Amino acid sequence: MECLILLFLVAMASTADSILDHEYSRTPLGDNIDKASVKLLKEAYLASENTNVVTSPLGVLLLLSLYSSGTQGKTRDEITELLGATGYKEMFDSYSGLSNEYASMNSSYLSLANKIYVASGYDLNDEFLNTARAYNTEVDSVDFHNVENAAHVINQWANKQLRGLIKDPVSKTSLDKDALVALFNVIYFKGHWHVPFQVESTEMKDFHVNKSLTVKKPMMHLSKSLFFHANDQLGAKMIELPYQEPGFRMVVILPNEVDGLPDVLEKVAQKGLLEDVFALSPARRKINLYLPKFDIKSSLDFTQILPKLGVNGIFSGGASGIVNGRSVAISKIFQEAIVNVDEEGARAGAFTGAVIVPLSTRYRRPPPMDFIVDHPFLFTILHEDVIVFLGTYTH
Ligand SMILES: *[C@@H]1O[C@H](CO)[C@@H](O)[C@H](O)[C@H]1NC(C)=O
Ligand SMILES: *[C@@H]1O[C@H](CO)[C@@H](O)[C@H](O)[C@H]1NC(C)=O
Repeated sequence: MECLILLFLVAMASTADSILDHEYSRTPLGDNIDKASVKLLKEAYLASENTNVVTSPLGVLLLLSLYSSGTQGKTRDEITELLGATGYKEMFDSYSGLSNEYASMNSSYLSLANKIYVASGYDLNDEFLNTARAYNTEVDSVDFHNVENAAHVINQWANKQLRGLIKDPVSKTSLDKDALVALFNVIYFKGHWHVPFQVESTEMKDFHVNKSLTVKKPMMHLSKSLFFHANDQLGAKMIELPYQEPGFRMVVILPNEVDGLPDVLEKVAQKGLLEDVFALSPARRKINLYLPKFDIKSSLDFTQILPKLGVNGIFSGGASGIVNGRSVAISKIFQEAIVNVDEEGARAGAFTGAVIVPLSTRYRRPPPMDFIVDHPFLFTILHEDVIVFLGTYTH
């Protein structure tokens, strides 16, 4: 009798506390996305006036990969290098494959869509059009001269994909009346924690913005067996919070020092996050977790960030394989991203756009100004080994 009761309790405990097995493994594509993503986040963090940053580097990488098919030589090599591919063919196969895989996932929790708008009166190069189709990309035409209307048309498409999470991501100023083409990508995720936090357990607690400033934040709480990993060399500890949605989880990387985030980010930018993410294992004891609820919204200008990572040719070298009869370049590439994290789970979305103009009307932006501020943590949302969202949170 006692024995039966004991077994029953053990079974109950293991269901309530179940740690999800990892049924996925690292792939070259996941590793390449990791390395490029953390470099993009580091630069976005340094360039940001706001210390909280959220981004889906994946959206930028996908658009660069698509754009590269219309380029050659140095411009294409710079993209291949940032994306970590051994060559164009590998990059094409990987990113078109991922676009199709994510586009066909259950859209109630993940949607990914690409779209190309071509200026009325212009035609896409046939080969570029074939590539766009391989990336599961819809193509439409729009009159960019009427910028207001063009923004309206693009926003209608974007709002539908983003289900209201980011409203009207395109403004008149994000476009260009001389644009010949614009490429867009949307990634939307809605996940539910495998074990939700209890709303009544959330309480106002101290959050150390830095060594001298402490504020009160609504902290969610749970006490549970979780995957954990500590890396002294990195100077950080991490935990994993699985979502119900298969393959998805959030990993929170907490620096050991209150002001340790810049250093951790610098180290992570050198070696990526996946090695540590895949070193997570069941903690030997329960974890008493306090995690702030947070909402972050970022507007990121990758026109300024990409040159710092060696990607220049897209802005200055002419691409002849995109629009029939014209040499073009990217005039701006930007992203609007949002993440909301609460007791139930997370909603995250990113809208990425690249505006393509004739080479001659391309204009130079003023050099960027860096704002370097202390931040307490770094977070990422992954699907299997693919980093889908990445961010920092400080206050
Ligand atoms: C998609 O996911 C939702 C919510 O997780 C679920 O209710 C629905 O059955 C899923 N649809 C398919 C086709 O798997
Ligand atoms: C802490 O953060 C506040 C607000 O951002 C700032 O005014 C203050 O200078 C910071 N202190 C240190 C030591 O960094």
